[in-house]
Amino acid sequence: MRRTRAYRSTGRGRRRWGAFGVGGMVAVMGAATVSVTAPSTSAAVTHAAKTTTITWWASPISTSGPDLRKALITAFEKKNPGITVKLQTAPTNTDTNRADLVTTISGGAKSPDIFMGDVIWPGQFGAHGLALPLSKYLPKSFFKRFASGLVEGASYKGQVYGAPFFQDQGFLYYRKDLLAAAHMPVPKTWEQLRTDAATLVKQHKVKYGFVFEGGSYEGGTCNFMEYYADTGGKVLNATDTQSVLNVAKTTKVLSFLRSLVTSGASPGAVDTFQEPQAMTAFQNGQAAFLRNWDYAYSTSQASGSKVIGKVGVAPLPTFAGQPYPGYSNIGGWNLYINPHSVNRAADLKFIEFVTGPEAQTIEARPPFSEIPTNASVRANPAIKRLNPPFAVLSRTKLVPRPAQNPNYPKISQAIYTNMNSALAGSTSPSAAANAMASQLKSAVSNTGL
Ligand code: GLC
Repeated sequence: MRRTRAYRSTGRGRRRWGAFGVGGMVAVMGAATVSVTAPSTSAAVTHAAKTTTITWWASPISTSGPDLRKALITAFEKKNPGITVKLQTAPTNTDTNRADLVTTISGGAKSPDIFMGDVIWPGQFGAHGLALPLSKYLPKSFFKRFASGLVEGASYKGQVYGAPFFQDQGFLYYRKDLLAAAHMPVPKTWEQLRTDAATLVKQHKVKYGFVFEGGSYEGGTCNFMEYYADTGGKVLNATDTQSVLNVAKTTKVLSFLRSLVTSGASPGAVDTFQEPQAMTAFQNGQAAFLRNWDYAYSTSQASGSKVIGKVGVAPLPTFAGQPYPGYSNIGGWNLYINPHSVNRAADLKFIEFVTGPEAQTIEARPPFSEIPTNASVRANPAIKRLNPPFAVLSRTKLVPRPAQNPNYPKISQAIYTNMNSALAGSTSPSAAANAMASQLKSAVSNTGL
């Protein structure tokens, strides 16, 4: 789930970046210039520029306030009068979004031309020819604009499939007012957070202690990865070909998650929560602590929120005895090109713009407040000062999901379904950990889409 701010073809040669850069677009636009013969009464011939229309499939980046997608399209079209971008709204749940695209693109559809896709898709999309290998069409120098590690995460078997668009990572949001009144420092361990959250609930200071994404969906995997990385656990081996899930460490994580509910620190319904439910509870003043992505700060400060001026942000805690801070999962979204798109030059132009300084500054500034992927924008002190989560970025530790394996959807499903049943109390933590381990084994060798 994304957001609740309130989300093969050939044709290289001439279309390669070298021919495309600045002069290339002139060629493209030149090619798009058509001669129009006036009615027979006049022999005059006029020239009119034809517009290339590209379709951009993207889920809403926020569910309230101005639409970042539209702001970027407007800025792009202003700079590129020959190209029109048609927005096609995609489902907000990342799993549904992916399933729709897989059906569309594997069926050979030429549209959408470009799609905003999750950072976990390059393995599956690259292995099955569902995205254009951008590194075959863009020079190496293009990829230098991105903050370190992002291009690697957008690659599969040596080719880059996604242009990093914005990054997400998990943070701990807390109610400054409630913690100050209770003389509680910001918790640095998960155990302390559980105690503090349960205490605040018992003392009727707040309805819920800690809310997070515990639902049976991709976001559940993101949350699981954070706790599991804190135990030192790994899901796949170094070549991403075998499951190395540690059952004892997994049991520790699942027992802890279940204890959040049984201790009263988290509401029973947290096993159904995706980003919107967790965000809404926090924004309505019903929760003391929230785990959510970076956009949650600006959402919590948007008009209509009941916690304006009361929210602090910190890196995620870790388990007692482990070095603070805990791990944040790497989320975020890339731009991919449909391999069947017939508008590749315009697609590349759009990607070049949206990952460049102008567009990345727009997305980093309020009210959007996304973590930019463009290294120079991200390093700009004026940008860093704009959003409290940005100031915490350098203190966080990151863990990716095991998405380099093309069967990642099944891998993730093995993680989130078992995490969820342990959280809900329908399976014991150790039975759920064992089930996760055996399902991961078969998921890794699954060859379907
Ligand atoms: C956010 C993240 C994405 C993740 C999703 C899970 O949108 O950016 O990477 O898969 O949440 O709900």
